[in-house]
Amino acid sequence: MKDGLTGKSIFRKDYEPYPWDVKQLHLFFDIGRETTTVRAEMQFHLKDGFKPSQAIVLNGKDLELLSVSLNDRPLGEGDFVVNGEALLIPDAPPISVLKTEVRIHPANNSALEGLYVSGEFLLTQCEAQGFRKITWFPDRPDVMTAYCVTMQADRSEFPVLLSNGNRVAAGELPGGRHWVRWEDPFRKPSYLFALVAGDLAMVEDHFKTRSGRDVVLRIYVEAENLDRCDHAMQSLVHAMRWDEDRFNLEYDLDIYHIVATNDFNMGAMENKSLNIFNSKYVLARPDTATDADYQGIEGVIGHEYFHNWTGNRVTCRDWFELTLKEGLTVFRDEEFSADMQSRAVNRIRVIRDLRSRQFPEDDGPMSHPIRPDHYVEINNFYTATVYQKGAAIIRMVHTLLGESGFQKGMKLYFERHDGQAVTCDDFMAAMADANGVNLDRFGRWYSQSGTPQVHVSDRYDAATRKYTLTLQQKTPPTHEQADKQALVIPFAVGLLTGAGGELPTQLETGTDVLEGTRLLVMEDEMQEYTFVNVPEKPVPSLFRDYSAPVRIFYDYSPAQLATLITHDSDAFVRWDAAQRMAVSAILELCKRSVNGLEMTLDAALLKAFQGMLADRAADPALLAEAMNLPEEDYLAEQMEVVDVDGIHAARKFIQRGLAGNLMVHFAQRYAELNDGQAYQKSSAAMARRALKNTCLGYLVETGLGESMAVAQLASSDNMTDTLAALKGLLQMDSPQAATALAEFESRWKADALVMDKWFSIQAVQPGPNTLNRVKELMQHPAFSIQNPNKVRSLIGVFAMLNPTGFHAADGSGYAFHADRVIELDGLNPQIAARMAAAFNRWKRYDEGRKSLMKSQLQRIAAVEGLSGDVSEIVNNALR
Ligand code: PHE
Ligand code: ZN
Repeated sequence: MKDGLTGKSIFRKDYEPYPWDVKQLHLFFDIGRETTTVRAEMQFHLKDGFKPSQAIVLNGKDLELLSVSLNDRPLGEGDFVVNGEALLIPDAPPISVLKTEVRIHPANNSALEGLYVSGEFLLTQCEAQGFRKITWFPDRPDVMTAYCVTMQADRSEFPVLLSNGNRVAAGELPGGRHWVRWEDPFRKPSYLFALVAGDLAMVEDHFKTRSGRDVVLRIYVEAENLDRCDHAMQSLVHAMRWDEDRFNLEYDLDIYHIVATNDFNMGAMENKSLNIFNSKYVLARPDTATDADYQGIEGVIGHEYFHNWTGNRVTCRDWFELTLKEGLTVFRDEEFSADMQSRAVNRIRVIRDLRSRQFPEDDGPMSHPIRPDHYVEINNFYTATVYQKGAAIIRMVHTLLGESGFQKGMKLYFERHDGQAVTCDDFMAAMADANGVNLDRFGRWYSQSGTPQVHVSDRYDAATRKYTLTLQQKTPPTHEQADKQALVIPFAVGLLTGAGGELPTQLETGTDVLEGTRLLVMEDEMQEYTFVNVPEKPVPSLFRDYSAPVRIFYDYSPAQLATLITHDSDAFVRWDAAQRMAVSAILELCKRSVNGLEMTLDAALLKAFQGMLADRAADPALLAEAMNLPEEDYLAEQMEVVDVDGIHAARKFIQRGLAGNLMVHFAQRYAELNDGQAYQKSSAAMARRALKNTCLGYLVETGLGESMAVAQLASSDNMTDTLAALKGLLQMDSPQAATALAEFESRWKADALVMDKWFSIQAVQPGPNTLNRVKELMQHPAFSIQNPNKVRSLIGVFAMLNPTGFHAADGSGYAFHADRVIELDGLNPQIAARMAAAFNRWKRYDEGRKSLMKSQLQRIAAVEGLSGDVSEIVNNALR
């Protein structure tokens, strides 16, 4: 068995600069679905400081090499060496013009990397290392050059021919063919190259930048989707304006293209002026897309747009620095969404996501710092750690420096590094220098993996009216890093009276009295903060706005949690208190049932829910967040040995108990919110739908719910309500569910994105029957194992979001899933590797499940010719 860490691992410390400047790159594409030929002409200039007679090293993969010439001399066998993915031309003159010609086969490319086919068009995906599947080139982000791209193709089959930058020339050719030439004035790394060719329809809008540049905005989609582009276009306009207002950053070209495809491994891609998007993040109409979809579109459109500065204008030196562009750009898109919609709701969703996806990753076999030190396959490092934890770390920089200090740092970063490929250290240096502060110690967040734990304890002395908080930080060892150092942890805190009033705070060591939140900065392993003039033992409101991505330990009493839930000024703290109460109630029930004790409903939780349902002042979306019980996966993370069925049963018991006891309140709130008004896109309307459907999710656990769900389904004018009603019928196992599913299917069977939802709601159904249903659904005409969205919505949802199905004690879920990983590995290794990660937490289960999962991992690892992608994941898991 191969060890994920030996042989093919690449190390950050081994970075060496590329000896050559590539002055320009001309690409000539003769486009065809089956065969495309690519001619490349590039000018290499030896950089100063490199000794003459250097070799030129290029990367290439699966290319049929037709010819190579150097300074117009054709090269023969002995003039160059091809070794794996490298082509080496020894002793190249200091100025070398290299020409190559290759043939590639888009229609056979099922990995969706390089040039491939989607429906009626061809497109490229180059990040991270897909450009080498198009032509020979130094395919690394620190080699930046100016691209000039000429495409020719049959006009009727490929009426639209797009690439990066400006369209500078075009013409007709004999035989019904045409050609187009694009020039990108900005030097860029190869991973930002893109090309699209085919039959696409387009919607157009305009944006005038602050300095008066008129930018044409175009979204290309398949013709039947033309009526679903409005929201994406509005989001783009909002993003462009927001980046000017908040970051003082303007768009730099006259044209901005977005192309939507159904076949995409990821969410979207920020290619310079030619973004390519998974259609899931473009297409929306009220009847086809949920509120979450609308929000996702706004966020991802923003994300890719923001990359134009953070990623494209300033890019990464090498792939170890990925978080330089991703952490920062996620931070920017989070701020964008927070400024556009409710800040508090967005923040809570971000935190929920970090805790439920990134924490387990950081505690498992793939744990890595946001800037990894080594990898086998870079595609495996587009992770929640690099993205979401990376953004959380940028957020701490923002918290420490404040908005204006952070913006000063950004300004200096662009002044210093525009047009360069740089490192996270360069970013931190700009932040530090612009503010005259030292961030060296903070920099440990970049190199240390694992989730820090902060243990908080307190004491109150009534005689002296002093209150002391003691914080102790500890990061448990991770598989690749035994020793952990103390981190700089921003600690935002407030103190409440038992009745819920905010106390002013004054530290023993200072004189200022603060009315609201106080920001403290923890630097050492252990720190004490003593507050003076504290009239009573306070309720501590800890890590307000989640000021650091840590696990917070404090022994809250139910009364303290109740105070926070009802009175704290901070939405995160209120939400977190409600989640804590629910988590402890559910885990307590698990324990009781293991010990053969009867389950009972936690009285404090019941009271808290009653309070929330009666709260007509709070944002309904926040109430919905607080009343959504923690997911089974998150609960599993809190247990020593995961009790799959126990968690499910306990959570269900609580859900039912709350529903039964508070039926009247749920029904009343539901009725108020279900006011028959026509659909609106506003965030207020979304908030009302969120709470309404949360209520419905409880009501279907009572005798009242079925008719409500049926009525909602019949009268709904939007996908959020439709899907919630349908899910409700499935959740309660209603006899009406089958008909409702069938009607939904017959209405939407031709609609790829809507059918994804139909697959998912079935795959997520708990219990032993779902596996067979998933197998049946794989035969459905709308399903295709070649399509990543389909794989994610059926197979991915079953494996990752259906614990009682996937973890069936007989191992049937595991065997099925391992078969899918193996099947996918032959088609699309990136997606196969994502799916394989479902086994990552295997060591946390009981002996029976552990050994069943282990043997599936071994079966996958033993597959002959297994991709590096999957091999890295499964061998790490097995180690
Ligand atoms: N860079 C893309 C983003 O975060 C993600 C991506 C990575 C897309 C690799 C495709 C391939 O916006
Ligand atoms: Zn990104």
